[in-house]
Amino acid sequence: MSNIIISPSILSADFANLERDIKLVEEAGADWLHIDVMDGHFVPNITIGVPVVASIKKVAGVPLDVHLMIANPEKYIEPFAKAGADILTFHYEAVKEDEIKPVIDLIKSFGVKAGLSIKPKTSPEKIFKYLSYLDMVLVMTVEPGFGGQTFMEDCALKLPLIRANAPESLILQVDGGINDKTGRVCTELGANSLVAGNYIYKSADIKSAIMSLRQA
Ligand code: DX5
Ligand code: ZN
Repeated sequence: MSNIIISPSILSADFANLERDIKLVEEAGADWLHIDVMDGHFVPNITIGVPVVASIKKVAGVPLDVHLMIANPEKYIEPFAKAGADILTFHYEAVKEDEIKPVIDLIKSFGVKAGLSIKPKTSPEKIFKYLSYLDMVLVMTVEPGFGGQTFMEDCALKLPLIRANAPESLILQVDGGINDKTGRVCTELGANSLVAGNYIYKSADIKSAIMSLRQA
C-alpha cells in the first residue's frame, strides 16, 4: 500500500528492559528504531548517549534512526557514527548557518544518512537550500524534549512546502504526538516517515498500532 517508514521511539520503552522492548517493536513490524539523544542543554531533558547506542546496535535488527537534540552536534557525529547510527539527524537551531553544510558532509563522510530537523517555531524556508544535500528532514510536531505531548497541527503545514522544494528521494519525517489520526494528517501532507513513542509503546496491541500508522 505505502512505503511509509515507521520508526518507534524507544524514549517510551522501559529502559531497564530495552532489548525486550526493541524486539517487541521489531517483531511488530518496525522499519527503524528512533533513538532520542538529549543533552539537558539544547532541550531541558537528558536521555541517552553514545554507549547506549553502541549497546543497542548489538541487539537491533533494523536501522538506528538517531535524533540528536544536542548543542554542538559536530562534536558527536563521529562517536555516534562509530556506535552504529544509520541515520543521524541534527537540529537546524543547534548550529550556526555556515556550519550546516559541513555537518551534513561530516555525517555523510562516515557513510551515514544525514537528517536535518526543525523545531515548531522554525520556518521551513530556512532549510530549502540544504534539501538537495540531505537524506531526510525531520519536522518536529511538538517542542522537542519529552514524549507524550500533543501534536501541533500547524507544524504539519510545513510538509508540503518542504516536499515541493525537495528531491523526490528525500525522506520527510514527523515526530511528536503521532498516532493513527495525526499520522494520516502528516502523510496526506507529504510525510513518508512517522516517529511514534507513546502511541506505539503504550498501546495494548503494538502490532495493530504499527499497522494503523502504516495505513495512515
Ligand atoms: C520528543 C522526541 C520524540 C518523542 C516522541 O522530543 O523527539 O521522538 O519520543 O514521543 P511521542 O510519540 O510520545 O510524542
Ligand atoms: Zn525524536
